[in-house]
Amino acid sequence: MRILITGTGGLLGSNLALEAASAHTVFGVARSCPQKTEAFTPVVADLLDPGVMERILDETQPDWVIHCAAQANVDACEHDPENARELNTEMPRKLAQLVARGGARLLHVSTDAVFDGHKGEYSENDLPNPVNVYAKTKLDGEYAVLEEAPQAIVARINIFGWSPTGKRSLAEFFFNNFDAGNQMRGFTDVYFCPILVNDLAGIFFQMLEKGLSGLYHVVGSESINKYDFAVAIANRFGFDVDLITPMSVTQSGLKAVRSPQLTLKVDKLIHDLGIVPPGISPAIDRFYTLYQQGYPQTVQSLCIDS
Ligand SMILES: NC(=O)c1ccc[n+]([C@@H]2O[C@H](COP(=O)([O-])OP(=O)(O)OC[C@H]3O[C@@H](n4cnc5c(N)ncnc54)[C@H](OP(=O)(O)O)[C@@H]3O)[C@@H](O)[C@H]2O)c1
Repeated sequence: MRILITGTGGLLGSNLALEAASAHTVFGVARSCPQKTEAFTPVVADLLDPGVMERILDETQPDWVIHCAAQANVDACEHDPENARELNTEMPRKLAQLVARGGARLLHVSTDAVFDGHKGEYSENDLPNPVNVYAKTKLDGEYAVLEEAPQAIVARINIFGWSPTGKRSLAEFFFNNFDAGNQMRGFTDVYFCPILVNDLAGIFFQMLEKGLSGLYHVVGSESINKYDFAVAIANRFGFDVDLITPMSVTQSGLKAVRSPQLTLKVDKLIHDLGIVPPGISPAIDRFYTLYQQGYPQTVQSLCIDS
């Protein structure tokens, strides 16, 4: 297959492109991170520039498009809501229009944060209620994509893994600080179902191969709070667990409001795809194995500037 992946300067896109490269012809669009790799064909472009999406789709002729580019920084969205809307709602809308017209399959990446997190254990039938600008603009992006391209997949995720900057994911934050011997705080009252980006890649490719469409929750099959997640990383890597102090998110002073119970059900995915996404322990085991294999350096070497 010919796969066009946007956001390959970021956490998810970079890993998807590397995972896809052995079996597919991959084109990766990055904005500010010029890419040097033999694994896939890099395209450096700002997708908001007039005519750029059209040109890239025309030149690459993809069978599948996986759209990861976004403004994924929650506090930056709060600071500049207009930019967040451009990137998280209008950019996917336009891409969906173009992809639907050209006949390729589109997988658009969204977020667990569309829920307010009061209830937890959300299914695809639960009503979203975004609590910050990031979540609101991502939810509107979902609606826009499914309006323009009803055959598209919209996948709500929560991820961790090794990123091009070495500091994009929460797991890297914990890893880097444990490694440096820094004291940290971990929220005991914020729950999520993280999935390792490398595991997510395999699931995404199977969803596309199987011709699924519509909204799916694609997260890990187990929930955990952020403090326990940090402890699990410390234990797997052999770091000092005492470096992490438990605390409540209400004491954090973060600018944007966060949803506390972002746990999602994956029953629909299991039913339609016939596979169960990994739980916490196997995912952290693989995160550790990748580290031992020097994979973080491979991801970081994608960006010339890193
Ligand atoms: N990280 C998570 O835990 C998480 C959780 C739930 C959902 N998601 C979703 O997953 C997707 C990927 O997230 P991520 O963590 O990989 O984000 P990321 O690391 O911030 O990567 C996003 C990438 O999009 C690129 N981009 C932004 N605007 C662009 C434009 N106009 N043209 C071209 N590229 C552009 C950015 O380029 P620059 O490098 O130039 O900024 C960045 O490299 C997003 O849709 C996000 O909402 C992420």
